[in-house]
Amino acid sequence: MNTKTLGTLTTSAIGLGCMGMSPAYGDADRDESIATVHAALEAGITLLDTGDFYGAGHNELLLAEALHDVPRDTYQLSVKFGGQVSPDGAFLGFDGRPVAVKASAAYSLRRLGTEYIDIYRPARLDPTVDIEETVGAIGDLVDAGYVRRIGLSEVGAETIKRAASVRPITDLQIEYSLASRGIERDILDTCRDLGIGVTAYGVLSRGLISGHWTKSSGGQGDSRTASPRFSGENLDRNLALVETLRGVAEELGITVAQAAIAWVASRGDDIVPLVGARTRARLVESLGAVDVVLTDRQLAAIEAAIPADQVAGERYPTAHMAALDSER
Ligand SMILES: NC(=O)c1ccc[n+]([C@@H]2O[C@H](COP(=O)([O-])OP(=O)(O)OC[C@H]3O[C@@H](n4cnc5c(N)ncnc54)[C@H](OP(=O)(O)O)[C@@H]3O)[C@@H](O)[C@H]2O)c1
Repeated sequence: MNTKTLGTLTTSAIGLGCMGMSPAYGDADRDESIATVHAALEAGITLLDTGDFYGAGHNELLLAEALHDVPRDTYQLSVKFGGQVSPDGAFLGFDGRPVAVKASAAYSLRRLGTEYIDIYRPARLDPTVDIEETVGAIGDLVDAGYVRRIGLSEVGAETIKRAASVRPITDLQIEYSLASRGIERDILDTCRDLGIGVTAYGVLSRGLISGHWTKSSGGQGDSRTASPRFSGENLDRNLALVETLRGVAEELGITVAQAAIAWVASRGDDIVPLVGARTRARLVESLGAVDVVLTDRQLAAIEAAIPADQVAGERYPTAHMAALDSER
């Protein structure tokens, strides 16, 4: 597996996002999830992304189980905190207060069964707390040895600059795909100016541009059914774009998902695509994208198949969009 650099951290060319292994996109199979984590490590993936609110701790406990016998220095844990969920799964908001930062870390360390977190990041900006305070509290955790590096998630250029004035920031985790190119406005340049890497999530637009999504996909417990891009006429329009991409991918001898992942990977050595595979079959397909070498012309053809301004619907439901500092 090739490597990439996030800030000063060397990591695998793609990372594994584990959210879908907890209830988010409908039910996931525990044994298959664990087997997928093991297969990812065997393939050379070192970056594993989770969040304390994914399944209200379920995701971290699952990872702890999967990583129980794996030497700690062979993988890197990227952990998000701050998202607040109630016992029934309802979303309650974000908490970036220093006291919450430290308490969240204590529980994550215990659930993950680890002495340190490699990259610790607030999932969203808490609008009631200055980012300097949140980052300062993570900095205290760095000084105490509980956290190695500091990351951000879904914040805009001004917040990135303010955060970086407090402590070195390793990476920004943000949605980036053929279908979601908002970071190209000013966020990517800001990250590059400050030596901050990008962990790109949703590189398959949550499966929408994977080539596997159909009008009958999704179902009970799958949060995507509430997403504007997956609904009604928007879905018809978006799936038509995917068929154009399928034609391009077939000519290149790769799958739709591989084309989408390879395009994100091609955007820079400081951009690491996170893939949300939760089965070994999907993982193997993703891994196939790592070795794909595409010419500028081929990349342009992939890009032209899914013009971002023709993708129908926002990337999150309205209430979630309002919580994105990165969209202001
Ligand atoms: N910072 C943030 O705000 C934030 C937000 C969301 C996610 N994330 C992180 O990013 C990770 C990835 O996000 P995501 O899961 O939404 O994005 P994604 O990788 O765009 O989508 C994953 C979905 O696509 C399906 N899929 C189809 N073909 C695939 C293939 N070859 N490889 C991988 N998946 C394939 C998956 O599998 P199935 O077919 O099994 O459904 C899954 O439903 C998450 O796990 C999480 O760690 C971060």
